[in-house]
Amino acid sequence: MTSVHRLIEKFVPEHYELFLDVSRASKTFAGRVTIKGEAKETTISLHQKDLTIASVVIGEQTLDFTMDDENEVVHIQVPEVGEIALDLEFSGRITDNMTGIYPSYYTVDGVKKEVISTQFESHFAREAFPSVDEPEAKATFDFSVKFDQEEGEIALSNMPEIKSEERKKTGIWTFDTTPRMSSYLLAFALGDLHGKTAHTKNGTLVGSYATKAHKLSELDFSLDIAVRVIEFYEDYFGVKYPIPQCLHVALPDFSAGAMENWGLVTYREVYLLVDENSTVSSRQQVALVIAHEVAHQWFGNLVTMKWWDDLWLNESFANMMEYVAIDAIEPSWNIFEDFQTSGVQAALKRDATDGVQSVHVEVNHPDEINTLFDAAIVYAKGSRLMHMLRRWLGDEDFRSGLKIYFERHQYGNTVGRDLWNALSEASGRDVAGFMDSWLEQPGYPLVTATVENDQLILSQEQFFIGEHEEKGRLWQVPLNSNWAGLPDTLTDEKLVIPNFSALASQDSEALQLNTGNTAHYLTAYQGELLDNLLANWNNLDKISKLQVLQERRFLAESGVISYSELVPLVAGLTEETDSAVLGAIAQVLSGLKRFIDEDSEEETLFKSMVANIFAKNFERLGFERKEGETDEDELLREFAVAFTLYADQEHAIEKAKAIFDAHKENIASIPAAIRADVLTNQVKHAESKELTDLLLDTYIQTNDGAFQRQLIAALAETKQEAVLDTLITAFENKDIIKPQDLATWYLNFLGKPFAQEKVWAWARTDWDWIKAALGGDMSFDKFVVIPSNTFKTEERLAEYKVFFEPQLTDMALSRNIEMGIKDIQSRIHLIAKDQLAVAQAIQNLEL
Ligand code: BES
Ligand code: ZN
Repeated sequence: MTSVHRLIEKFVPEHYELFLDVSRASKTFAGRVTIKGEAKETTISLHQKDLTIASVVIGEQTLDFTMDDENEVVHIQVPEVGEIALDLEFSGRITDNMTGIYPSYYTVDGVKKEVISTQFESHFAREAFPSVDEPEAKATFDFSVKFDQEEGEIALSNMPEIKSEERKKTGIWTFDTTPRMSSYLLAFALGDLHGKTAHTKNGTLVGSYATKAHKLSELDFSLDIAVRVIEFYEDYFGVKYPIPQCLHVALPDFSAGAMENWGLVTYREVYLLVDENSTVSSRQQVALVIAHEVAHQWFGNLVTMKWWDDLWLNESFANMMEYVAIDAIEPSWNIFEDFQTSGVQAALKRDATDGVQSVHVEVNHPDEINTLFDAAIVYAKGSRLMHMLRRWLGDEDFRSGLKIYFERHQYGNTVGRDLWNALSEASGRDVAGFMDSWLEQPGYPLVTATVENDQLILSQEQFFIGEHEEKGRLWQVPLNSNWAGLPDTLTDEKLVIPNFSALASQDSEALQLNTGNTAHYLTAYQGELLDNLLANWNNLDKISKLQVLQERRFLAESGVISYSELVPLVAGLTEETDSAVLGAIAQVLSGLKRFIDEDSEEETLFKSMVANIFAKNFERLGFERKEGETDEDELLREFAVAFTLYADQEHAIEKAKAIFDAHKENIASIPAAIRADVLTNQVKHAESKELTDLLLDTYIQTNDGAFQRQLIAALAETKQEAVLDTLITAFENKDIIKPQDLATWYLNFLGKPFAQEKVWAWARTDWDWIKAALGGDMSFDKFVVIPSNTFKTEERLAEYKVFFEPQLTDMALSRNIEMGIKDIQSRIHLIAKDQLAVAQAIQNLEL
C-alpha cells in the first residue's frame, strides 16, 4: 500500500463556511462550502469520498478540477499561490455504514423514525464535504444545516445555535463559529431528540440527549456525571473547558462506543443511558465512558496529535484519565480495581503474543488507521503505561507538566515528544528516556525474583504466550517494591543485590514488586519468595491478592508453571469478600474451565470446588438486594449468583426459577443485577419455544441496550436446533439485530459448544455479507478475533487457517489473523500439556 501525501503541504485551510441541506426522505444531502486558506502551490487537493462536485469557484472565476476517487481527493487548479477563498458546490448520498453522515433507526410507539448524525473520526469528514481531512489541518468552522424537519425536531452541533429567529423563517439552523480544530471533530445530530441540560460552576452548558424512544429520566445519571467530570478536569488540568457547551447524545446506531466531537459527544445508547433498573457495573461503565470522552475535550480536541501514528496520545491518555476522574468524583466505587480486572488483564494478554504492535505505530495509509484502534494496546496498555508514568513522576509533577503542555500547545498539534518534554520540564526527570522503551517496543518484561547465596537476583526478559522469537528486548522497569533498600529501576537484564538476609530483616512483610500493580510487567517469585508471599496471603491488600492471582495465571498461560498449581490455590480461597479478588478468581476459573470437558467427572468435581469458593458470599447475599446495601455487595452478588448457578446448586436453580415465574409477565422487571442469571438459568433448565420466543420478542421490543445484552446471553444457552436456526437467520435481519450488535451475538454463540459448529459455518459461508454489512466498521475485525479467542482444537485451527490465511493480504485483518493463529495454537498446546495434571489436581481436592 502506498503512503499518502499530506494535502496540508499544498493547501493550509483556515476557515470553513459550510452549509448542508439534508434529506432523510431521499437519503441525500447537498452542500456549499467556502474554504479560506493558503495555497502553497497552484495545484491543490481536497479530500472527498463518494461526493459529486458540481463546481469550484474563486470569486467569479470557475476553476478546473479532476476527481481522483481512488485517492479520495479532488485536484484543483488555482490561479495563484497565497490566500484564497474557494467556493464548492457538492452533493452526496446518506448510507448505512455508520461513517460520515448516516442515519440511526428506531421505533417510537410503533412508528419507525430516523435521526441523522455524523461520525468523522478518523477520516470520514471527507464523506460529508470537501476538506483537508487531516488532524493537523486545524481550522475554524461556521456550520449551518437544513433538513426535512418535522414538528418538534431539533438540530445540534459543536457550538450553540445563533440566529434562531431567522431559523423560524428559513428553516436553517446556524451555529456559532467553532474554535480552531481538526475536521474529524466536526459533528451534528438532527431529528426528534429530547434532552436535559444543566450548567457547571463556570457556566458551561451541559446537556444529555436521546431519541424520544427513551424517557428523560434515563438521562439524569449521565448529566450529573458529565457536569462533575468537567468541573474535575478544569481543576485537575488548571485549564478551563474551552467552549460554551458540552452536549452528549445517545444514538441508536453507532459504530464505536462513543466519540468525542468537540461540544457534541456522541454515544452508543448503552454508554449514555441508564434505565431505572440498571446494574452497578453498567452505571460505572457509563461514567467511565463519559469521563473518557470529556478528557478528550482537552487531550485530543484542544491539543491534537499531528498524525495518526500518535493516536495513543489521544486514546491512552483519555483511557487513563477516565479512571483518575471517576476515582476522584466517586471514591467509594474503587474504580481502579475495575481497571485491574479489565484493562490490565486485556493488555497483559494481548501484549504477550509475538507479532503484537507497539503503542506507537507507523501508519501511512488511511486504511491502516482502523487497525490502530487496538483496544488492548492503544487503550489498555497505553493507559497502563500512563498510570505507570504518573506513579513514577508523582501526581503533582504530572499535573504541572500537563498544564505546561496544554498552555504551550492549545489549538495546535503535537507529537509524543512534546508531552515528554513538558513532563520533563515539570519534574526534572528524563521522561522520554523512561517511556521510549515502553512505547516504541511491543511486549513487556517478566521480572524473575530469586534468592541465591544470600543475594537477591532480579532479572528481566520478554514475556510471551505461545510461539515466539526472542529479540532480547529490555525495559526501564520501575520496581515499586514494598521493601526499603532496593533500587528504583531495573534497567539491565540482571541486577544482583547483596546481603539479602540483612535486607529482609529490616522489612516485616513478604517482598513484593510492582506494588499497586501500576507498572506493565509480571513478576515470577521463586522459592522462598513465593512461599513467603503465599503464606502471608491473609495480610495482603486486595490489589496484591488480585495481582498474585493474575500473575500466577499468566505464568500458567505461558507454560512457566503448570495450570494445575492454580487449582489448590483458588480452591482454598473460600473467605474472600472483595469483588476485585473475586474478579481475579473468576478469571482463573475461566482459564481452568478450558481444560474440563463438558459432562465429565472432572466437571462435577470442578463445579463443587466453584460452589465452595462462592458459598459464603452467596449465603450472605442471596438473590435479592437488601435495603441500604452497598454497591460493592451488589457487585459481589453478580459473581456469587452467576457462579453458584454455574455450579448447578439445586437450591439456587430453584430460586432463580421462582424469580422468573414471579416476573414472567414482565421480565424486564427482574432486578438487573441478577436478570442475566435468572434468564440464562431458565433457558438452561426449562427451555421451551414459548420462552425463547419471549426472549427474542423482548429483545426486539426493548430500548434498553444493557437488557438486550442479557437477553443475548440467555438465548445463547439454547439447545434447540430450530431455535438456533431462527437466530442465525436473524443475524442478517437488520430489523431484529442491528449490525452494531452482531459481534456480541457472535461472541456469545460461538462460545457455546452446542452452537459453535453452526455459527462458525454461518460466518464462513456468509462472510461476504458480514463484510458488506460491517467491512470498514470498527467491529469488523472482531469476526477474526472472536474465533481465535474461543477455539481450542486442532480441527478448528485447521478450519481457521483454511478460511483466514487467504485473507492475509487484507491490511485491515492481517495482523489479527497472524496473531489469531498463534493464539489458537498456544491454547491447544497448553491444553495438551496441562490437561491431565489439572484433572489430577481436581481429583486431589478434598471437597
Ligand atoms: N475517539 C474514540 C472513538 C473512535 C475510535 C472513533 C475509533 C473512530 C475510530 C473515542 O474516544 C473512544 O475511545 N471510544 C471508545 C469508548 C471508550 C470509552 C473506551 C470506543 O469507541 O470503544
Ligand atoms: Zn477515546
